[in-house]
Amino acid sequence: AVVSLPARVLAGRHVVVTSGPTHEPIDPVRYIANRSSGAQGAAIAAALRDLGARVSFVTGPAEVPPPQGVEVIAVQTAREMREAVEAALPADAAVMAAAVADWHVANARPGKIKKDGSGKLPQLQFAENPDILAWISRLEHGRPALVVGFAAETDDVLDNAARKRKRKGCDWIVANDVNPETGIMGGTENAVTLISEEGAESWPRLTKDEVARRLAGRIAEALNGGEG
Ligand code: CTP
Ligand code: CA
Repeated sequence: AVVSLPARVLAGRHVVVTSGPTHEPIDPVRYIANRSSGAQGAAIAAALRDLGARVSFVTGPAEVPPPQGVEVIAVQTAREMREAVEAALPADAAVMAAAVADWHVANARPGKIKKDGSGKLPQLQFAENPDILAWISRLEHGRPALVVGFAAETDDVLDNAARKRKRKGCDWIVANDVNPETGIMGGTENAVTLISEEGAESWPRLTKDEVARRLAGRIAEALNGGEG
């Protein structure tokens, strides 16, 4: 059979992809996390690999296994994820698809918190996590030429995502509507809008694999001097 292979337009390029949730411990047996299967991030890493890129795949504890043929760096927390991304640099592009927990538990306990029978409830104190996307977007030295973030929103999706692009300082934001009725969270499809300085481009509802292939293609164009 004749199989047409995608052109290796990203050969010699290095891309860092974050994916999955982060887990922020409360104690050794409990954590807080965002919902994320890791499916879209894994598909993006595979699509970039298929175009010939070397991919550093920094992933939290995701349901979907990481793709073959990428360098997998497994982390638990947002702080570990930021350090792993830093260690993976330099990179030509960064795609931050992880659903990073916004806070960690500042008073996490080394031992399991027990119900002591008095009915007294544990009091969790939260501290803000590093914003990996904002940090990498504003690096003075060694900023990847192209930084792509995601914005999963339930309200005013495009306005919020466009504001997020400016606030974080990234080049592109892939915006998606994660209202439960869209069925996107945990599903195989995604409906996204790519937001750049030039404006917003809505893509049809596609499989997550197809979204990943389109995005990888656009990243290749941008890195190879096409539309940025
Ligand atoms: N992100 C990140 N580090 C964080 C939080 C978010 O790198 N600590 C990245 C995500 O991977 C995503 C983008 O930032 O690419 C947007 O994440 P989102 O949670 O939508 O943005 P926030 O600024 O955390 O805003 P919100 O209050 O809507 O959660
Ligand atoms: Ca967030």
